[in-house]
Amino acid sequence: MKPRIGVLTSGGDCPGLNAVLRGVVLASEKLGWEVVGFKDGFEGLLPPGDYCILDHKSAEGIMALGGTIIGTTNRGHFVSKIGGGDRTIVPANVIADAKKILDELHVKALVIVGGDGSMVTAQQLQEAGINCIGVPKTIDNDLEATAMTFGFDSAVDVVVDALDRLHTTATSHKRVMVVEVMGRHAGWIALHGGIAGGADIILIPEIPFDYEKIAATIKARHAAGDLGTVVVVAEGARPQDGQQIKRDIEGGEFRLGGIAEVVAREIAKRTGKETRSCVLGHLQRGGAPTVLDRILATRFGVKAVQLANEGHFGSMVSYQNYQVRQVPIAEAVNRLRLVPPNGEMVQTARDVEISFGD
Ligand code: F6P
Repeated sequence: MKPRIGVLTSGGDCPGLNAVLRGVVLASEKLGWEVVGFKDGFEGLLPPGDYCILDHKSAEGIMALGGTIIGTTNRGHFVSKIGGGDRTIVPANVIADAKKILDELHVKALVIVGGDGSMVTAQQLQEAGINCIGVPKTIDNDLEATAMTFGFDSAVDVVVDALDRLHTTATSHKRVMVVEVMGRHAGWIALHGGIAGGADIILIPEIPFDYEKIAATIKARHAAGDLGTVVVVAEGARPQDGQQIKRDIEGGEFRLGGIAEVVAREIAKRTGKETRSCVLGHLQRGGAPTVLDRILATRFGVKAVQLANEGHFGSMVSYQNYQVRQVPIAEAVNRLRLVPPNGEMVQTARDVEISFGD
């Protein structure tokens, strides 16, 4: 029997997951290993085991596919982050059940492709004696342990495409368009998307905003003949004297969202201008990965297999200084990378006349 390596995708999906799977499958086959793909995140590890064998045939043509061919979930028995980053412990019996299935299937190492919460779970599996390798993924690009995650570039691409479209309608109607983008507590998607999409105002969690300042910017633009204005607001942004808008907590992390509608209402009230809001939502998570994400995802998948082959269990692949390297999962978890409010990117945006509403 060939040695076996397992792989699963966990947490919210993002473009590039299938490119990682393809990288894992092809690099493993080269080493003579068989790949077991566990379905729907960690849930596939539970008895009786929900899995499929992934070979080069199953990896054919999946590079350009959004989502993940083995499914994912950010709910279920292995959730290890609730609310604002608080950790919970995955029950010992759940981990023991997973270990039993992996042993029965002769899976020697498990590649876990997921975000921060999934890495917290991976760390707990590793501590319980399951050989884990982490592959970081999130469109939010907010993990301190890696300079970039795949999925981010594709999400930004969607934002830029939307802004290109919204500019023309904003200008034609002399309206203000407020566009809400994802990113949780980090403003990276809003910042990159806003700069590349020529936004006039960008609101991010790291720089709380003032409605009066936003209104003043829009009025000044109007007075100068710029009658349409495009505002990008990150879902986690908040006014200086207010809170983030949080939604339900359902056996997982709370969701953010709804700020665009509030901002649009306040702008209309303060400027008298016709204002509309638009929430991009999960459009940012779907569709084909960009070239950059395909390449990064492939490199991550291949590196994960190399790490497993060399026995570097408990580590996570990481992109640093143009190289794919490894960091201990234990050091990688729960360390968010936020936009530095006085950093070069924010300054560049200000220098091209983008306001942060502060
Ligand atoms: O972390 C990725 C992300 O898309 C966030 O930007 C967003 O807040 C969240 O996931 C949405 O999660 P769900 O798919 O559960 O609504």
